[in-house]
Amino acid sequence: MKVQALERCGSKLRFIDQTALPVRLVQKETDDYLEIIAAIKRLEIRGAPAIGIAAAYALAVAVTQQGAYSTDLLVRLGSEIKAARPTAVNLFWAVDRVLDKMKAHGNVSAIEASRRLWQEAEAIHDEDREMCARIGRHGSELIRDGATVLTHCNTGALATGGIGTALGVIYTCRDQGKRIKVYADETRPLLQGSRLTAWELQQEGIDVTLICDNTAGMLMRQGKIDAVLVGADRIARNGDTANKIGTYSVAVLAKEHGVPFYVAAPSSTFDPGIENGSQIVIEERSAKEVIEGLGTLTAPSDIKVYSPAFDVTPNGYITAHITDQGVKPGGRP
Ligand code: MRU
Repeated sequence: MKVQALERCGSKLRFIDQTALPVRLVQKETDDYLEIIAAIKRLEIRGAPAIGIAAAYALAVAVTQQGAYSTDLLVRLGSEIKAARPTAVNLFWAVDRVLDKMKAHGNVSAIEASRRLWQEAEAIHDEDREMCARIGRHGSELIRDGATVLTHCNTGALATGGIGTALGVIYTCRDQGKRIKVYADETRPLLQGSRLTAWELQQEGIDVTLICDNTAGMLMRQGKIDAVLVGADRIARNGDTANKIGTYSVAVLAKEHGVPFYVAAPSSTFDPGIENGSQIVIEERSAKEVIEGLGTLTAPSDIKVYSPAFDVTPNGYITAHITDQGVKPGGRP
């Protein structure tokens, strides 16, 4: 892949500031865990798997930075990091995994703790890379040569530690020699589809066409979409799936038009702690992103705004979940 969202660089984390794309490719480096938290909040680092990986690196950076270690300190740092964003379960999964691992080691020196924390963060990063590759392989079996796929938000190398989830399926098809065309929803309000997916797919030489979000229905009615492929931020035990706002609308359209609707996600996005989608906390973002997100005021400055960052697609609209462990049929007949 030409793009790598996150990378360990000695005792620093290097990351692409995704808010600058597609105008500039800006790489940042930090040895301050508060800057990693701020980057997650500002969506400089975004996408559920990438947020989880960054959270694990943030714990390593924090203990290295402070030169001190105790389990209590790590629990406090973990709580601070978990507060960055509420919906993507990968954030909580990664912090809890690191905490459990470190608790099992008991009290160790700050130097030893720092070494183990970096090691665990890199293991999470490597495993995500491997899970993306497996998702790609499993998902590619569902997509035929010559297919046209619709996607929403960004689920590629920018959003993960590897080739991506939904976009990973597309890259795998490409590597198998299949000719795939992609329609990318622009994904209002923060335009992850146009700023990130369109850019990333272009870098990879994939045939991509950008559409406004409200164009998807017409394309499906015209029979121009063979499958929808999206990612996920959290999947409940019953298969209900939280993903970028607008995903549910696409799923309803897909069902209406008989277009298969696939959710691609690693095991770390499945939340065994919740029964259904109603228990998923949905992040709300600021009004400014909606009324001034295009760099100029596009609504009255004092207008009331409601801006949920995610929605929940009930399992009944999902044809299948494509995971690193295989393809799990969804609830859509
Ligand atoms: O607000 P974002 O950009 O972090 O939202 C990202 C998404 O909704 C992605 O579709 C999801 O995290 C899956 S990324 C493989």
